[in-house]
Amino acid sequence: MSQQYQHDVLVIGSGAAGLTLALTLPQHLRIAVLSKGSLANGSTYWAQGGVAAVLDDSDTVESHVEDTLNAGAGLCREDAVRFTVEHSRDAIQWLIDQGVPFTRDEQSAGEERGFEFHLTREGGHSHRRIIHAADATGAAIFNTLLDQARQRPNIELLEQCVAVDLITERKLELDGQRCLGAYVLNRNSGHVDTFSARFVVLATGGAAKVYLYTSNPDGACGDGIAMAWRAGCRVGNLEFNQFHPTCLYHPQAKSFLVTEALRGEGALLKLPDGQRFMQRFDQRGELAPRDIVARAIDHEMKRLGADCVYLDISHKPADFIKSHFPTVYERCLGFGIDITREPIPVVPAAHYTCGGVVVDRNGQTDVPGLYAIGETSFTGLHGANRMASNSLLECFVYARAATSHITQALDQVPMPADLPCWDASQVTDSDEDVIIAHNWDELRRFMWDYVGIVRTNKRLQRAQHRVRLLLDEIDEFYSNYKVSRDLIELRNLAQVAELMIRSAMARKESRGLHYTLDYPEQLPVAEDTILAPPTYAD
Ligand code: FAD
Ligand code: SIN
Repeated sequence: MSQQYQHDVLVIGSGAAGLTLALTLPQHLRIAVLSKGSLANGSTYWAQGGVAAVLDDSDTVESHVEDTLNAGAGLCREDAVRFTVEHSRDAIQWLIDQGVPFTRDEQSAGEERGFEFHLTREGGHSHRRIIHAADATGAAIFNTLLDQARQRPNIELLEQCVAVDLITERKLELDGQRCLGAYVLNRNSGHVDTFSARFVVLATGGAAKVYLYTSNPDGACGDGIAMAWRAGCRVGNLEFNQFHPTCLYHPQAKSFLVTEALRGEGALLKLPDGQRFMQRFDQRGELAPRDIVARAIDHEMKRLGADCVYLDISHKPADFIKSHFPTVYERCLGFGIDITREPIPVVPAAHYTCGGVVVDRNGQTDVPGLYAIGETSFTGLHGANRMASNSLLECFVYARAATSHITQALDQVPMPADLPCWDASQVTDSDEDVIIAHNWDELRRFMWDYVGIVRTNKRLQRAQHRVRLLLDEIDEFYSNYKVSRDLIELRNLAQVAELMIRSAMARKESRGLHYTLDYPEQLPVAEDTILAPPTYAD
């Protein structure tokens, strides 16, 4: 039997953004936090390098702002950058207060800098400003926030619950535009339940799974972006897909990231013959922003016909490597690579979705009552290329901003009346699940081949043609068969892929992460690519 639930706030997503929001909302509110798999299902758990913030006496807000604007290739919204950076110290203090075990500096060094925690460095940053927990920062943050959430009786943490679609007044043909809740597939019961809420928050993460090779966990399917689009929200800058330069290249290593902090601590990129190459591409060498490093690696691999390049930190003392990078050390050793003695084979892989659901300073989308925070949102912070470790920061700052906004609006928003149940009367069990698996593979492969690090008009046209065929096929399948997690994700991935391709075709220049051989120059004026769905109401 399908169930009906009512909450003050429905949070779809249990990563850094969703948990922060749930923990900062007033404790008298009834809050549901959903995850479509286990609670650790999102990217947050896997984050390695750390969180960027202005934390010690030698760093300044101006410097962090300037570095972010430079990495963003002229497309960041300066007010969003400034807002985020200005709130960075408070956000980190909040995490410290929650008990996150960040790595401490040696006492004397900490005292000298006026800050007791160790700060590392990553590409694009002109200062050491990345606070971290060794090289497993995401797990340390996630575990701490989850422990806190488990102690709050007002927060229900619901696993294996896949949001299928948002429920809006417009969809129910009522007066108004407000979001009233969501239909959610409970994977344990197999039924689609109805969640109504005064406020709904998308904290569903990114969409890097749209590519064949990615650093992201399996759930990064852009569900929030697709649901928001179908509900009438605009999306922005979806052509900017960030490829992380250094993912482990090994036949058995599924999407393992080798943190940029290695380069921050002196690791060098080398060709198969042992020569360095980054200086030929940028004077910042290994610490140039990611778009430049990933493109340089892609270029060298294609030029030499090489399967990978190498990242070498073996010139550093073994103790230093093992204490700063225990996760990378152990994981590589598991594959027979001792990083204290030999270089690591690496390739670029899809890592981060810079665009997303258009939101304002409070995380509000175009649909009243609906918020989007974290990687699923488009705040204007990242521009054409996200600077390393600014993503987790954005999760914390915007989750806290959305909390303030929801808290102020509480009195004006009643609980929605009973909502209609999900109608499954017209659908049957699928007997052809192979179609889902096949379409999923096809989509990820052509996105990798045609909408990857280097693009052309022709490649984008091919991708557009194929994605439209897929969308028709998926629509038909969706109308006739019961929903499953795989089908929901495929439907969303295909929708987001179509929006990415459309955005890429609209950009007639090369800028940041969007590089096309047909328009290799950057235009003098930087403009966002904003797409509005047919249902968008001004
Ligand atoms: P996520 O943490 O991805 O969580 C998404 C949540 O939404 C999950 O709980 C998922 O189950 C849920 N969800 C999704 N769809 C649905 C649905 N339909 N129904 C129900 N639930 C749903 N950034 C940094 O700043 N610093 C780093 O060092 C860093 N390292 C990284 C390393 C790796 C390997 C990866 C993959 C990313 C890294 N990033 C880093 C990026 C950063 O981790 C992510 O951008 C950030 O964690 C996103 O957090 P989030 O809360 O928005 O989403
Ligand atoms: C990394 O540790 O290299 C990832 C950092 C990030 O994605 O911000």
